[in-house]
Amino acid sequence: MDYRQLTKMAFEAQKKAYAPYSRFSVGAALLCADGRVFSGCNIENSSLGVSNCAERTALFTAVYEGYRDFTAIAVVGKSEEDEEFDLCAPCGICRQALSEFCDADTFDIILARTPDDYEVYKLKDLFPLHFILKN
Ligand code: THU
Repeated sequence: MDYRQLTKMAFEAQKKAYAPYSRFSVGAALLCADGRVFSGCNIENSSLGVSNCAERTALFTAVYEGYRDFTAIAVVGKSEEDEEFDLCAPCGICRQALSEFCDADTFDIILARTPDDYEVYKLKDLFPLHFILKN
């Protein structure tokens, strides 16, 4: 699974977004160490705080299915008003959620405009010094 292919899966997931309130649709494709991919979209709610981001939809689906070892996530997003995609970076809550399971030094976050035009960031660069609960 190369990052071009993973990005394509994020674009497929973006088509499933339920975003009638923000009209901003996001898709994510989360790559597991064994090559399996879990996709997700944002799912909004009329009680806005209930809405869930695409990245967490993918992550929580994967964890529920028994997967906890991840290597990368591709994220794409666009407003209905825009013709073209621009980079859509994960929100702070999603960065914290990913940091629970992903190695900050190695996990790649792929932000794409098209499957051929993307940028790759390490989780540690987008989310340094993440919160860890110490007992
Ligand atoms: N959204 C995501 O799905 N992922 C992010 O990382 C940023 C924001 C969604 C949430 C909401 O449904 C819409 O984009 C506008 O904020």
